[in-house]
Amino acid sequence: MAAIAIMTSGGDCAGMNPAIKYFVEHVILHNLEPYLIYDGLKGLIDNNIKKVTLNDVQGIIHLGGTIIGSSRSKRFFEYKYREQAFNNLNELGIDKIIVLGGDGSFRAMNTFYKDFGVKFIGIPATIDNDIYGTEYCLGVDTALNIIRSAIDSIRDTASSFKRAFVIETMGRESGYLALISAITSGAEICVIPEMPYDLDFKEKQIKKDVANGKRYVLAVVAEGTNKTKEIYNFLRNEVGMDTRVTVLGHIQRGGNPTVFDRLMASNFIKHSIQRILEKDCKGEVVVYKNSAIEFITIDYITSHKYKISNALMGLYSIDYCGNKC
Ligand code: F6P
Repeated sequence: MAAIAIMTSGGDCAGMNPAIKYFVEHVILHNLEPYLIYDGLKGLIDNNIKKVTLNDVQGIIHLGGTIIGSSRSKRFFEYKYREQAFNNLNELGIDKIIVLGGDGSFRAMNTFYKDFGVKFIGIPATIDNDIYGTEYCLGVDTALNIIRSAIDSIRDTASSFKRAFVIETMGRESGYLALISAITSGAEICVIPEMPYDLDFKEKQIKKDVANGKRYVLAVVAEGTNKTKEIYNFLRNEVGMDTRVTVLGHIQRGGNPTVFDRLMASNFIKHSIQRILEKDCKGEVVVYKNSAIEFITIDYITSHKYKISNALMGLYSIDYCGNKC
């Protein structure tokens, strides 16, 4: 019987566990054998691969992270370790892999396909939501809801004490998490790598609002800007408010997956398994675009850079695109 494996690679995120459960269900429905690769590329090299049944994935749909573990492996760059990984799969009769991760993981699998012909489908899974060609990556909805909940709590204490808070979000070089959080939390300041900001203008505006009774100020800053300290100093010294900093950190990566992340895990898995079983499928990435599922090539992803749309940035600041977004 033909076998398919699933692996989670790179940064973990909510939605991976529902995807693992749906994967096992769909593979069995297709009368194939489901395998789990533990600890990402590391487990692929070290033969940490197990055949599973539905019982192995029961009670995981609501869990954050990934029950099969993840890793970032430098060894996979070397041909001898990729060959070792291929021999492991070959012994088990696995010639197809579904991989949840980011573009680094997809590139690694593409090289693996070119070396040994192991087909794969990549499922974009990163809270950074920064993979070209897809409007949504698994895990981002849960991360955004965790940030929303944290900012709601911070607002309670900020308004009690008439304070300003600088909230730093994750995202590497991408400002997506910070931008969406600033829009949906009504933050006065949003600092992301992709968008200019004008502190002189903000100073006048905030001072006026505070004089008119505003009790708190929220600034959301993307980690990739390295501007958390600068915004803290600005609020404390220029605006003159008692200011605190909260770095949200890894709480954004955990937590139980939202309904949307579970639903999208189901959507991505169903279509990925259908596609990987088609004869002409080699190595592709499943994406979500204009509310529909599509498949794109790794070359297409890696030859472009992800950009937040002007329309989204225009939601935060009408100045950003002169009210034309
Ligand atoms: O890519 C996901 C991410 O959580 C980024 O937002 C963050 O910068 C990074 O991973 C943190 O990596 P680590 O878990 O290795 O500290």
